Amino acid sequence: MKKIVLFTLVTLLSVGYLFAKEGMWIPILLEKYNLAEMQEMGFKLNAQDIYDVNNACMKDAVVIFGGGCTGELISGDGLLITNHHCGYRNIQSHSSVENDYLTDGFWAMNRSEELSNPGLTVRFLEYMEDVTEKVLEGTESISEEEKQNQIKKNSSAIQKEAAIDGKFSTQIKPLFYGNQYFLYVYKIYKDVRLVGAPPSAIGKFGGDTDNWMWPRHTGDFSLFRVYADKNNEPAEYSEDNVPFKPKKFFPISMKGVQENDFTMVFGYPGSTMQYWPSKEVDITMNQRDPNRIKIRDTKLEIIGADMEADPKVRIQYAAKYAGISNAWKKWQGEIKGLKRLDAVNSKLAFEKEFKKWALENGEWESDYQEVFSNFETLYAQYKKYIHASDYYSEIVFRGVEIFRLAGQANSIVNNIENKQTDKVKLSRKTMLGSLPRFFKDFNQTTDEKLFAELMPMLVEGVDDTFLPLDFAESINKFQSDKLIKKVYQKSILADKEKLTDLIENGSEKQLLKLRKDPLFLMYNKLRMKSEMDISPKVRSINDEITANMKKYMAGIMDMKNGEPLPADANMTLRVAYGKVEGYLPKDGVAYKHYTTLSGIMEKDNPEIYDYDVPDRLKEIFNSGDFGKYEVNGDVPVCFTASNHTTGGNSGSPVVNANGELIGVNFDRGWEGTMSDIMFDPDQCRNIAIDIRYALFLIDRFAGAGYLLDEMEIVE
Ligand code: ARG
Ligand code: ASP
Repeated sequence: MKKIVLFTLVTLLSVGYLFAKEGMWIPILLEKYNLAEMQEMGFKLNAQDIYDVNNACMKDAVVIFGGGCTGELISGDGLLITNHHCGYRNIQSHSSVENDYLTDGFWAMNRSEELSNPGLTVRFLEYMEDVTEKVLEGTESISEEEKQNQIKKNSSAIQKEAAIDGKFSTQIKPLFYGNQYFLYVYKIYKDVRLVGAPPSAIGKFGGDTDNWMWPRHTGDFSLFRVYADKNNEPAEYSEDNVPFKPKKFFPISMKGVQENDFTMVFGYPGSTMQYWPSKEVDITMNQRDPNRIKIRDTKLEIIGADMEADPKVRIQYAAKYAGISNAWKKWQGEIKGLKRLDAVNSKLAFEKEFKKWALENGEWESDYQEVFSNFETLYAQYKKYIHASDYYSEIVFRGVEIFRLAGQANSIVNNIENKQTDKVKLSRKTMLGSLPRFFKDFNQTTDEKLFAELMPMLVEGVDDTFLPLDFAESINKFQSDKLIKKVYQKSILADKEKLTDLIENGSEKQLLKLRKDPLFLMYNKLRMKSEMDISPKVRSINDEITANMKKYMAGIMDMKNGEPLPADANMTLRVAYGKVEGYLPKDGVAYKHYTTLSGIMEKDNPEIYDYDVPDRLKEIFNSGDFGKYEVNGDVPVCFTASNHTTGGNSGSPVVNANGELIGVNFDRGWEGTMSDIMFDPDQCRNIAIDIRYALFLIDRFAGAGYLLDEMEIVE
């Protein structure tokens, strides 16, 4: 009997290890919380191989790429790999009709051909440190307001010291809603050059149709090189700069992936909300997501139809469409996933358990009862204001595009009214600088259609109290297309030449006449409404919710009593680990863990933009000569694994048990997109490009095999 119990216990435990592991873990706490489990799952290295302040380790090869992606070093000469969609803007900025690198791809055939990218940076983490005690020093038994001030004061002192006279860039970030604070110290490199990118037909293969989906066949990678001054230190772009020599770069494994192999993703996940109370989950899945999806349905329909009808519009709106559709599609997956997990009830059950624990500890009445009654009132308010805020954000601030110009024009007018001469100059310069780009990608008829459909949605969607006076009536008048056309015609905002001339050369008096412009007027009424009655409320309620979350979170940590708890993602370096595995998305369907070049050919359809395979790739496929990239007569393309990832993890290294690079992360499977709120080991999968596909493309497709010479390839 005892034996059987022991046996089941052991199998249960080991089965547990076979599953995905929720959480994005903090590198300096791996030894304490995760290493044993990671090694049990197959990891062959130590915590110091991942993070070590004194010796070269994996963290020295991982960077924040640009504003919101991850990248990793893959050679001793500063070569870096990230996603195609992370390098997209830079690839685009070098593109023109004659040199269309988005369409044709770009490959530097030697270092002198690499292209500089003003504004693009990569950040290397020097070290991180738990500074909770120092941040909270002297904050006992003072009022909440004094406490916040003291925290700010302490934090800036710590940062100042760590920055060593501007040598480093520093950050202090709260974890667990402010129950802990960590310091992050970065070195920022500013000369980052484009080395290579496949054509969009490969780097974005499948487009928005396949986005968030498995099976996937996207070659979502691009190559850059980090440059430094002669001392290997950061420097602005200069011809004299030399390739940066990293302390560490990732060796690349040609051995590939097998089902159930250990994998780890090491990167910069943006944000997750694992500890949200039931109320917020409810509002998100039943109100916010559906509202935003509904509004975006309309935007996508209008823009999509115009793109379909006119190739020029297709190019103008491609990036905008992709941006709108990315979150739109994710939210749909999120709702589905949360419903399947019965998320609200599962949160309620947890809250019940929490209450029971607090009662048993005698802390319910003294501490937590109030937290929950506060949640009750706060979320009732939040629900109302966030509803209006979502509508405004989707329609006024990120919907009708002409309003963006109205917003910029308004800053100028404001500055003139306030007689701030310097600011007037600056705001004029900023607007003038952005106009060419705005109009290059602006089609007035499309925007008129957006106006015609979205404004009535705003009127119907939000309570009258959140609309400017008599707004509904004036929108009703706009029901005819003719009138809308007339307003756009009458407004100087829609007239590129006149507007540019006004901003560049107009007198202040002429500029002030903008106040009578019909679109400017309408935008301003809406903006004022939002700034007076909506956004301050959302902000203050959010602050109060966070203060309550801090207490609730402290309680959860107490209740879990030392059990390792993953902190929510906050764009700091994290480790996620799991296994290479497929999943069962629905009844009767089983997804394998990998895809191949044959699958690309299966999807090939020259008629459909997203699936138009380049001829050169077809030729290689038909030749059947895949060289060292061949696996069972095919070439591996992408794979899925059960690593807990989120936005920001794009471009992150996916490594094997030996710390060798096996893939570059770029997406998640649709059924698992609720993982930001609730993780399900059965359904949540990250998607990576198999590193062998990237090498195959560099070598065989692009003929840039010389780049492989500087890599360390483990056969
Ligand atoms: N879904 C991925 C992420 O959130 C990829 C987005 C880029 N691709 C696209 N087709 N929009 O960033
Ligand atoms: N595609 C995302 C990114 O760009 C990754 C994800 O959301 O899984 O970071």
